[in-house]
Amino acid sequence: MKNIAVIEHPLVAHYLTILRDRQTPSSEFKHSIDRLSYIIASIFYADLKAEKVNITTPLKATTGAKVKQSVVLLPILRAGLGLTRGFIDLLPEARVSHMGLYRDEESLKPIKYYFKFPALKDKKDAKVIVLDPMIATGGSVIFTIEYLLNMGFRDINVVSLVCAPEGLKAIDNRFDAKEKRLFHLYTCSIDEKLNEKGYIVPGLGDAGDRIFGTI
Ligand code: PRP
Ligand code: URA
Repeated sequence: MKNIAVIEHPLVAHYLTILRDRQTPSSEFKHSIDRLSYIIASIFYADLKAEKVNITTPLKATTGAKVKQSVVLLPILRAGLGLTRGFIDLLPEARVSHMGLYRDEESLKPIKYYFKFPALKDKKDAKVIVLDPMIATGGSVIFTIEYLLNMGFRDINVVSLVCAPEGLKAIDNRFDAKEKRLFHLYTCSIDEKLNEKGYIVPGLGDAGDRIFGTI
């Protein structure tokens, strides 16, 4: 699959290792995923469109730059919330929407239970950033990309921590070449495989449970 980028950074590897470690307690897990959200957001936001602005410092008139692109963050509940804070804090103008999905334990298919999105005039220009730490079967991300394409978005970005090759293949198979030009995937790791229960191996376990302490 062409439209996937693996984010490489020593701090990303450092915090991801803490998240993967089964000994990491929930408090440190939360802290580490939070730190990661800032690091990834600052790398990801490097491509934002900015415009020149005129300002006056205490000493003189000069020019600067301000982000002009409309950004909508879309965490997939629950685990996506863990990646949201850095993206909001670094760009407080970003709007935050929510997609509530859970995987049916038997079929592993995503079930939608909540969706809230801002009314936007400039859908074609808006950058949507879907946040979900895990891409396992790919079902949740496929559902979300389909939803956003149907709504008319043309700049869809999915940020994850860990992906299974099976999930990436499912995403690749689901969308045609034209659709694939409208979304990009960013991850910190493409892992080995899915196990028989649909968990990513080696992965980091159940991200939502580890963030919220519901194990
Ligand atoms: C997890 C994870 C993803 C999904 C990935 O959610 O946060 O959303 O599974 O799996 P998929 O690629 O096979 O769709 P989960 O259903 O565990 O819900 P939670 O975040 O509320 O714990
Ligand atoms: N969801 C998770 O949280 N972890 C996995 O390994 C797969 C799906």
